[in-house]
Amino acid sequence: MTITHYTDRARDGAGWIVAEVTFICPHSAEWPHAQVMYHQEHADAWAKLTSAVHDVGGKIFFQPWHAGRIQNDNMPMLKQSQYPVYAPSKIPAKGGKFRTLEGQPGHTHNITEMDHPRDIVEKFRHSVTLAKKARFDGIELLSQGGYLLHNFLCSHSNTRTDQYGGSVANRCRFPLEVLDAIIEVWGSRAVGIKIRPSDDYNDTTISYDESQPRPKEKELPDKYEPLAQFGSLYTVEEATELVKEGKIDLVTFARPFIYNPVSGYE
Ligand SMILES: Cc1cc2nc3c(=O)[nH]c(=O)nc-3n(C[C@H](O)[C@H](O)[C@H](O)COP(=O)(O)O)c2cc1C
Repeated sequence: MTITHYTDRARDGAGWIVAEVTFICPHSAEWPHAQVMYHQEHADAWAKLTSAVHDVGGKIFFQPWHAGRIQNDNMPMLKQSQYPVYAPSKIPAKGGKFRTLEGQPGHTHNITEMDHPRDIVEKFRHSVTLAKKARFDGIELLSQGGYLLHNFLCSHSNTRTDQYGGSVANRCRFPLEVLDAIIEVWGSRAVGIKIRPSDDYNDTTISYDESQPRPKEKELPDKYEPLAQFGSLYTVEEATELVKEGKIDLVTFARPFIYNPVSGYE
């Protein structure tokens, strides 16, 4: 079914597909059967999918994922493996609803503060190396949504006093180390990072004051209207026109592409 889902979209003309976020190690996010990539057998399974997408002329990127504090260790995979819920600091996230667990609890309080963030960098490296073997076309690193990389970026989920916490530069260190490791495997032309400074998902909202002011000499270009120029504003025709005019490089469409006609949400 997953192969059909992606090949249908590639055949219908998607220029570039980002596969759904995929765990680089055992996890306990809210979805019990989410996809993973940390053993050769996972790469072998993904290779069937990439090859089907390539056969119909598509390109597909891999999106490595660590959910950080957005987990509950009573979910089966973590309970069985006893793998900890790693996050930069022991600060539980508000919210969450683990519907498959009794009492439908929220995100865990049982967080293990990461003593050696470099160990997790290596897990990302391993996972994207497998993604290369599985013949993906590139990597998009997810650094938003309240997951591990975003936990490092946000001041309220990262209160570390070492080189990974405190200043903005220090909070960016872990995501950038992961990015460097990925680029070492893939080269910089095939790697992107997804960030969303205005995120409000999974207890990530930062205050307006914290997001101001922009650093000196990093002001937005004159007449630049971020609210008008981002968001779900474009039709395919509008996007094609703007790309042709050289005003933008790319527009992505998510929901219209992931609706699943088979289950009736056309
Ligand atoms: C059901 C669902 C699953 C999503 N999964 C992912 C994901 O795996 N990776 C990701 O980067 N974004 C994911 N998103 C967010 C979308 O990529 C996108 O940022 C968001 O839907 C807004 O874009 P849109 O207005 O074109 O839908 C998901 C969104 C939805 C609704």
